[in-house]
Amino acid sequence: MDYEFYKDSIVLLQGAISEVLTKIEIIREYRKVRGYNDPINYITTRVKSEQSMKDKLKRKKLAVTLDNALTKIYDAAGVRIICSYIDDVYHVAEMLKKCHGFEVIREKDYIKNPKPNGYRSYHIVFQLSLDVSGEIHPIFVEVQIRTIAQDFWSSLEHEIKYKKNIKNPELISQELKRCADQIATTDLNMQTIKNMISSNDERKKH
Ligand code: GTP
Ligand code: MG
Repeated sequence: MDYEFYKDSIVLLQGAISEVLTKIEIIREYRKVRGYNDPINYITTRVKSEQSMKDKLKRKKLAVTLDNALTKIYDAAGVRIICSYIDDVYHVAEMLKKCHGFEVIREKDYIKNPKPNGYRSYHIVFQLSLDVSGEIHPIFVEVQIRTIAQDFWSSLEHEIKYKKNIKNPELISQELKRCADQIATTDLNMQTIKNMISSNDERKKH
């Protein structure tokens, strides 16, 4: 992938992602040694591609400059955290919000308030002050936290969004929305089963 536009800033974006990952790893390990459940299934990260950043700046009617990319767009650096259960999503969100140096810039709960298309996920934009030998760089990191089932849905929805020549887009949207709602019901049911199991084992709850 070509990151010419970001030039040196790619290092800062990757650096901010690494700081978030390190923090999460410490929390996970610390919980593990104390016998608590791991609320995280897996994590993916990405730096927004140069083309996608340019397209987004244009879409938002902003000049295509590095400064705008780093100060006006929140998701140049992205971390996606996948959890098994809904409660874990909220738990992870709260854990991260407590971290010193992670300033919450924006927070959207698309689980309590799903998008009209059915999209569900918990989004937090953090600002980190990346210290490079005393040079402080404020960097945004968009963290998306969601369940495995919500992630499964959004990957298919994302794929379809970019597919051209879809003959029946209304029907597809309607079906996707129906699946999103079914998934939400299933996530709730799975949470209920989990709660029934773990009420016998308080220590492992959170
Ligand atoms: P963007 O300009 O798209 O970044 O939206 P925004 O700035 O209003 O932020 P929002 O929190 O709505 O979305 C941020 C990111 O969440 C997107 O870049 C996607 O990765 C993801 N996202 C938001 N809505 C959807 C959706 O309907 N479907 C899927 N698959 N992903 C979504
Ligand atoms: Mg985005």
